[in-house]
Amino acid sequence: MFEEDYKRRFVFGCDFGTSDYKYGPISLGERPRSVENRGYFPERSVVAEILGGVREVVVGNEVAQFLGSGQDLSARLVYPMRDGIIGAGDERSWRVVRELLSKSLTEFKPGGLGFKGFYVVASLSAVAPLYMYEKFFSFLDEKAEEGLVRSSTLIPQPLAVAIAHKQTSCVVVESGHGNTQVAPISRAPIRGAVVALNRGGSEANMITAEIMKDTGYGDLAKEEKVVRSVKERLGLLPLDLDRAVSFGRSNREAVRGVYQVEGTRIRIDLGDHSWSRFLIGEIVFNPGHEVFQSYYKRGMPRPSDVRVGDTVFYGMMDMAETVISSVEKCPVELQPLLYSQIILSGGNFNWSAPSHLKSVACDSQTKLLHMMREKGIENVKVVLSPEPQFAVWRGCIVYGYALPEGYEWSWERMEGWLHHWR
Ligand SMILES: Nc1ncnc2c1ncn2[C@@H]1O[C@H](COP(=O)(O)OP(=O)(O)OP(=O)(O)O)[C@@H](O)[C@H]1O
Ligand SMILES: [Mg+2]
Repeated sequence: MFEEDYKRRFVFGCDFGTSDYKYGPISLGERPRSVENRGYFPERSVVAEILGGVREVVVGNEVAQFLGSGQDLSARLVYPMRDGIIGAGDERSWRVVRELLSKSLTEFKPGGLGFKGFYVVASLSAVAPLYMYEKFFSFLDEKAEEGLVRSSTLIPQPLAVAIAHKQTSCVVVESGHGNTQVAPISRAPIRGAVVALNRGGSEANMITAEIMKDTGYGDLAKEEKVVRSVKERLGLLPLDLDRAVSFGRSNREAVRGVYQVEGTRIRIDLGDHSWSRFLIGEIVFNPGHEVFQSYYKRGMPRPSDVRVGDTVFYGMMDMAETVISSVEKCPVELQPLLYSQIILSGGNFNWSAPSHLKSVACDSQTKLLHMMREKGIENVKVVLSPEPQFAVWRGCIVYGYALPEGYEWSWERMEGWLHHWR
């Protein structure tokens, strides 16, 4: 019983995303800490050696200090995850993840006696290959040697979301920065029915950058962080794009998008082009809409199909079609049940409509419901996870709290605790 109580106090969740690493112990409550999932490999320098700061890789807030140093960024700044996957031999990416894991656990290590390591729940993409599981367990094992980890387990991200919502039969649509996974769940993810998209918030960033160029902010459009903020502040999700655009063209002041970048004199005003705010949300759900053709022709990359390991990540499939094709891979008897419980999670679903635009703009659950109905699927229920970018982390915590301490990891079932103590 002592062990069970101990475990509950020291559950620690880790969610490695394409853009952000969300992490922290159960004591944080509803919200994890979040840091960019990237690492910087500084040039070896004599000055750094004299100052005693030689490090192979730098992660977390310190990365910012190196960005202006004029060194070749693209070679030195590593974002380890692509579509949620890290290549088996991609040493530098693994170095970054290992460093982030280490730093995050150390950050929360309690002082005082009695601490014997965290119970770590780390989540991986639903299509993560086996070697990623092995690699993560080996890093966790290293941290166990330092007393930071007592036991650990790994869980597919969509399952974590289902657990956070206490749903055993549902479809989870997890859309982050780099990719989207649709996973039907019936107690466990139905592996053969997972459908993945090579698309996430980064595509919405791209159209935002194009709009910024078209409105005279070409220089700022090169700065990823500014583009992301403009997208999050000014982007709108239309219920019906054509209607929203014509509304926007004839109600210029109502849709006018202005954003003042915090702490600077920079003010972005989309002016008469403000109707294009609706394109930003639309591309997430339907990049095939004809309005995007001219942007693709002018050089905006068209989301493409890619194969990573055994999985194809589709580029252009619309969101409703993706959900339907995933559900239709499941037994017919189960399909109505799955449609009646669709859960949306991930930051890329974090759209909201200002009250004066409620007639043309909407949130993600309304949009998907509308698209599903248009395709003839009735009796659909869609729920949006609160603070959707943190749903996976919350699920990790709920899972770690509930998974009995005595239930040991099994490679056949892919669940249970791997106990690192010897
Ligand atoms: N209010 C918002 N409006 C639009 N997009 C948003 C909003 N808030 C967050 N996002 C977007 O959500 C994405 C980050 O979501 P999340 O943290 O779930 O992704 P991730 O876990 O890093 O990536 P992935 O799961 O694809 O590996 C970013 O593209 C971000 O700009
Ligand atoms: Mg994610």
